[in-house]
Amino acid sequence: MSGMILDRFRLDGDVAIVTGAGRGIGRAIAVALSEAGADVTVSSRTQSELDDVAGEVSSRGRRALALSCDVRKRTDIERVVEETLRHFGRVDVLVNNAGIFQVWAQPENVSEEEWNNVFTTDLKSAFLASQLAGRYMVARKKGSIINVASIAGPVGLPLTASYTASKAGLIGLTKVLAIDWAPHNVRVNAIAPGFIATPANATLRADPAARNAVEAKTPLGRFGEAEEVAAVAVFLASRASSYVTGETILVDGGWVAQ
Ligand code: NAI
Repeated sequence: MSGMILDRFRLDGDVAIVTGAGRGIGRAIAVALSEAGADVTVSSRTQSELDDVAGEVSSRGRRALALSCDVRKRTDIERVVEETLRHFGRVDVLVNNAGIFQVWAQPENVSEEEWNNVFTTDLKSAFLASQLAGRYMVARKKGSIINVASIAGPVGLPLTASYTASKAGLIGLTKVLAIDWAPHNVRVNAIAPGFIATPANATLRADPAARNAVEAKTPLGRFGEAEEVAAVAVFLASRASSYVTGETILVDGGWVAQ
């Protein structure tokens, strides 16, 4: 491998799929990948949000494909992968970002329906998307899959039984896929964000007591920005991380270090 070190972060000619790209962390990742040179399929449930982020990708001189998709439905995920291959002719990067938080609840009050919904959205969808895109990557002997996990997983986050368990499962899935696909040059890593300011936690941030509690417990003393997660996604998507696989990178302001 040769060239200037920053060249290794470039994604020129690559094609990425980002799920949950309509807003928040997924949106920042889609835009960042396009700034690094990738064409991007942006998918999530809300078409109007997708059109916006597709516009941001296009304004950076990259091609965007906006596909609405509910990651709880296998047929929707299949369509995203197939349409990407038809439209762009390849897929090099898959970012499994779509996810939902659970309603804060004591474990004894988590309903089976809630458990199933969180697991299907946050864990099963990542497996199905990885399986579908991974088959193509394995055949081509090139790929980088990035799972957006959470600090809930490396540590138990109180009152989030289904969320913590699904994200811990996602980190386990990251490791086993990394091992099984390493011989095919497909790398699989995860990012574990701490509290990042996104629409998902707007209500929490609007409550001064809750906001202060999070900031006080975070060594860096603030919420993170979605772009601070996106920067790590560019690293993991690119050959800058060519010897990194099976890893989970915390982007948490030091939360798990204490
Ligand atoms: P968000 O709620 O702002 O955005 C989530 C995106 O996922 C939206 O575009 C939404 O449409 C999409 N999505 C949700 N369910 C979907 C489904 N069934 N099918 C297709 N798309 C769906 O959330 P945020 O904060 O950007 O979170 C993104 C990821 O980061 C999630 O996996 C979340 O668990 C994870 N995360 C977020 C943290 C935070 O503090 N914001 C902390 C740790 C992890």
